[in-house]
Amino acid sequence: MGKVHVLDHPLIQHKLTFIRDVSTGTKEFRELVDEVSTLMAFEITRHLQLQEVTVETPVGPAKSHTLAGKKLGIVPILRAGLGMSDGILRLIPAAKVGHVGLYRDPETLKPVEYYVKLPSDVAEREFIVVDPMLATGGSAAEAITSLKKRGATNIKLMCLIAAPEGVEIVHEAHPDIDIYLASLDEKLNEKGYIVPGLGDAGDRLFGTK
Ligand code: PRP
Ligand code: URA
Repeated sequence: MGKVHVLDHPLIQHKLTFIRDVSTGTKEFRELVDEVSTLMAFEITRHLQLQEVTVETPVGPAKSHTLAGKKLGIVPILRAGLGMSDGILRLIPAAKVGHVGLYRDPETLKPVEYYVKLPSDVAEREFIVVDPMLATGGSAAEAITSLKKRGATNIKLMCLIAAPEGVEIVHEAHPDIDIYLASLDEKLNEKGYIVPGLGDAGDRLFGTK
């Protein structure tokens, strides 16, 4: 079964507090989501494999390391996931970016897919699917299914905040997936919003309502 990793780095937790705050406006919200995404990417890439290389310093040869192994792909779930992709790319600028467009039907809370575009070498990449919110889990589970259908075999899920219900649904559908969070919150409310959460991530990022 996949694991849940709550990234408890003090900078991540500090910034998450201001992201949650109802009085944080769109500009600051967007900047904070971007910054936290960079910090989370730092933690999520700890496992990446290295290869030994020799580099010539001004003083002489030095044994050093560069990244080896699978190339990375970032897949934001549209639209709120877009708020996280630049922050990750700042650390991993060579990563390719795929997009999965899904919205949650407000009545049924079921995800509706409207767009998918992935890098052509799907099978050779390690993917990080990103979305600020893992609520009922329908959107993330569907996005991961969509990637797997197209040949992806190595996928991680990174969200700012999750509800326990969402974690369970993703792990039921995809027992191989590790989930990285800044916070595992208490529950969902009757409208499928995470409590206490941060409200509607897409609306807060893009200033819509
Ligand atoms: C939000 C959020 C997730 C989804 C989570 O997107 O960004 O994609 O809801 O809910 P779930 O776990 O219950 O599926 P939304 O559907 O509001 O679309 P948007 O990003 O276009 O605003
Ligand atoms: N989508 C959001 O943006 N926020 C929630 O709390 C749940 C789903």
